[in-house]
Amino acid sequence: MHHFEYRDGKLFAEEVSVTSLAEDYGTPLYIYSAATFRRHFEAFDSAFDGLDHLTCYSVKANSNLSVLKMLGEMGAGMDVVSGGELFRALKAGIDPAKIVYSGVGKRDSEIREALTAGILMFNVESMAELVKINEVAGDMGKTACISIRINPDVDPQTHPYISTGMKKNKFGLDIEHSLEAYKLALELENIEPVGMDCHIGSQLTSIDPFLEALDKLLNFHSKITEMGVNVKYLDLGGGLGIPYDEEEPPHPTEFGKALAEKLSALPLKVILEPGRVIAGNSGVMITEVVYTKSNPTKNFLIVDAGMNDLVRPSLYGSFHRIGEVEQQGRAAKEYDVVGPICESGDFLARDRKLPEVEAGERLVVYSAGAYGFTMASNYNSRPRACELLVDGDTVIVARKRETYDSLIENEL
Ligand code: LLP
Repeated sequence: MHHFEYRDGKLFAEEVSVTSLAEDYGTPLYIYSAATFRRHFEAFDSAFDGLDHLTCYSVKANSNLSVLKMLGEMGAGMDVVSGGELFRALKAGIDPAKIVYSGVGKRDSEIREALTAGILMFNVESMAELVKINEVAGDMGKTACISIRINPDVDPQTHPYISTGMKKNKFGLDIEHSLEAYKLALELENIEPVGMDCHIGSQLTSIDPFLEALDKLLNFHSKITEMGVNVKYLDLGGGLGIPYDEEEPPHPTEFGKALAEKLSALPLKVILEPGRVIAGNSGVMITEVVYTKSNPTKNFLIVDAGMNDLVRPSLYGSFHRIGEVEQQGRAAKEYDVVGPICESGDFLARDRKLPEVEAGERLVVYSAGAYGFTMASNYNSRPRACELLVDGDTVIVARKRETYDSLIENEL
């Protein structure tokens, strides 16, 4: 459910006309709905009410400060994967004791920043990283709380680029090495192992792979408990999918119920790291048709948003629903919706049936709230789009549009 709806054929973001926003702020334009963000967070978080839990929103999905602040005010912790994301979370006022830090390549400086902030724990992805964290913590006279990210070798049945919990993926440690890592963690002077972690992939449309991973982790939990590890946290990562098209991902309550059945007897605090399920359908991207053109095989809608603005269709072949901002009631036609970038892979949709559209009209690209703006770039020297947060009838410029000057500000 989201709050982007047509009223008399005209699209509204909550109480605000999208046409008026496009006129005032230009296109391409990201629009987020505060009510939708709140509703998604609330629905997700309350699904785990039966368990002692902490929802750590995954900052990579949508890292705009206004979004982080809004979620933080609702009690969210954050999952970060870089010093930059940690910086954002802290700027947004998130309690560092609710921040977990994942990622395979944490540098010394980033480890130091996280220790200075006093985060809840590092999700450690290699032996070398464990040794490094111990070293940095020792230098600082601190103890670092850690989980080992366990790679349970489970197939999440999602796009290969976003599947992370299989043996062939670079993430975490397999079960055997995880055992060694906990042994080492117990020996290292400046490390306190406090949890277990896994994240098996993204855009999962069934809970079975989560439960398969959980069973492996629970089996492992008894082994390390015997070893003397006091496991307080069980971080199950993110990954719950959303409907982009016809998918029917499980509702968080289904996931919550299944977890409660398996975990209620254990004295563990469950950490969840949802990104897409909170942000994905809380945002849309608005783009204007610059030209139309046809050849004997294709009809093209050439729009002003490119793969630099929304790369998901180009990178993963992802489907994003597209509609008119103002419905004209014309007959449908098959189009390739393409951007202005000089690459044939620059498209938002291919062979898509849409009502006939004319140059100057605007389109809405749905499900763009997660991994939309955060993956945007300046390719072809295109300033990045404006991001708006609509809350009822209030419009907040969450990030202003970049200018040509912003393109060169760091160049000497
Ligand atoms: N935790 C960790 C350690 C992760 O690596 C991720 C996502 C998440 C949580 C959040 O997963 P989510 O709940 O959003 O599925 N750019 C891709 C998605 C990459 C996801 C990477 N990791 C896309 O546009 O589909």
